Amino acid sequence: APAPHTAPPASPPIALPTLRPTPFDPPAELAGLRETRPIAPLAYPDGHQGWLVTSHALVRQVLADRRFSARSELRHLPVQQPGQGPAQPAPPGVFLSMDPPEHTRYRHLLTGEFTVRRMRRLTERIEAVTGEYLDAMERQGPPADLVETFAAPIPALVICELLGVADDDRERFLAEAAALMRPGNSHEEVVSAFLVMQAHMKELVRARRAEPSDDMLSGLTKSDLTDEELANIGFMLLGAGLDTTTNMLALGTFALLTHPDQLAVLRAAPDRAEQVVEELLRYLGIIPFLVRTALEDAEVGGELVRAGQTVTLSLPAANRDPGRFPDHPDALDLSRAAGGHLGFGHGVHQCLGQQLARVEMRAGYPALFARFPSLRLAVEPGEVPLRTDMAIYGVHSLPVTWDAG
Ligand code: HEM
Repeated sequence: APAPHTAPPASPPIALPTLRPTPFDPPAELAGLRETRPIAPLAYPDGHQGWLVTSHALVRQVLADRRFSARSELRHLPVQQPGQGPAQPAPPGVFLSMDPPEHTRYRHLLTGEFTVRRMRRLTERIEAVTGEYLDAMERQGPPADLVETFAAPIPALVICELLGVADDDRERFLAEAAALMRPGNSHEEVVSAFLVMQAHMKELVRARRAEPSDDMLSGLTKSDLTDEELANIGFMLLGAGLDTTTNMLALGTFALLTHPDQLAVLRAAPDRAEQVVEELLRYLGIIPFLVRTALEDAEVGGELVRAGQTVTLSLPAANRDPGRFPDHPDALDLSRAAGGHLGFGHGVHQCLGQQLARVEMRAGYPALFARFPSLRLAVEPGEVPLRTDMAIYGVHSLPVTWDAG
C-alpha cells in the first residue's frame, strides 16, 4: 500500500507582521517564518489569499522571474496604506509598475540620461550642498531636527537638479511635494495634492521643452516621450527618490548615534564610507516589502503559486537572512562586506537612482560626523517618532544636539 501522504499541518494564513521590536529590527515573526516556511500563505486585508517570502534566495528568485509582474492593477497590498485608492494601471511613463517590454523602453531612455558627465556634476553638487546645509546647521546652533536641516533638503535638491527646477521655484515645488507625502493624508487629500503637483510637473516639462537646459528632464524632451509621459516620470522620480534617501540619511544617523562602537568605526575610517553605506542599506530595511503578482502558475520554494496570486517580498527579512549573511545578520557591523543586500531590489526594476542615492549617503554621513564630533540625540531613543505607518519606514523627525563653539 502506498505510504500515507503526510501533508504539513494546515496552518491558517497569517497577516503580514508589522510590529517592529526596536527602531531598527524587522518584526520578530519574520525570522521564524524565514527558518520554517520561507514562502508562507499570507492573508491580505482585501480578502485575497497570497504569499509572503522571507528568505534572501527566494526573494531574489521571484524578483528575477519574468512570470511575476510588477503591474499595479494586478496586485493586492499586504497592508492598508494611508491614502490608498483602488488598484489602477500605471499612468503612461510610470515604468516602476510596468513589465517588459513597455518597461524596457522607458528604462533605457532614462539610463541613457545618467551619463558619466552628468553623474560627475551631480556628485560635485551633492558634496557642495552637503557642506552648505551643515554650515547652516552650525550657524543656527543646537538643537536641530536633523530631518528638516539635513536629511530632507539634500535628496530634494537632487530631484530638483534632475528635473531642472529653477532656483526661485524650488520652495514652491518642495512644499507641494511635502503636501503630497504628508503623514495621515486621506485619499482625497492625496488626490488634491497630486493634481497641484501634476500641474507643476507639466509646467516644468513645457518650460524645459521651450528652453532646454543641462538637466535630465531637458535631455528627455529630445526623445519621443509625450509631455504627459515626461510629467509622470518626473512624478515617479520624486516618489522614488525623496522619502527613500531622506529616511536612509535620518534613520542611518539614528542607528549610528545609538551604536557608538559602530560610529567609532566610521569616524576612524571615513574613507570607508562605501562599505558603511552598504551595511546601513542592508541593516535598516526602510522599504518593508515589494509585491509581485504571478502571471501564470509558478513553483517557488516547493509551493505552487497560482496565476493571479500576489507575493509579498520582505526585503528586511531577506537582508537579515543568516543563509546569505552568516555572521550575526541582526547586528549592525560596519566592517561587514554587505554587498548582495536587496535594499535596492533586484532584477529589471532594481533601483534606477542607486548610484545617486549612494553618492548622497557617502557624502552625507562622514561629513555630518566630521562637522559635529559631539553630535547626539536630544531626546531619549524611545521618543524619536517612527514612521511605522508609512510605505517607507524611517523617522518623522530626529532631534539632535551638539556642543557649539
Ligand atoms: C526602484 C530603493 C533612491 C529612483 C527602486 C526599488 C527599490 C529602490 C527597492 C525597486 C522597486 C521594485 O522592484 O518594485 C531605493 C532606496 C533609495 C532609492 C533604498 C535610497 C537610499 C532612489 C533615487 C531615485 C530612485 C534617489 C531617483 C533619483 C528609482 C526608480 C525606480 C526605483 C525610477 C524604478 C526602476 C524600475 O522600475 O526600473 N528603488 N531607491 N531611487 N528607484 Fe530607487
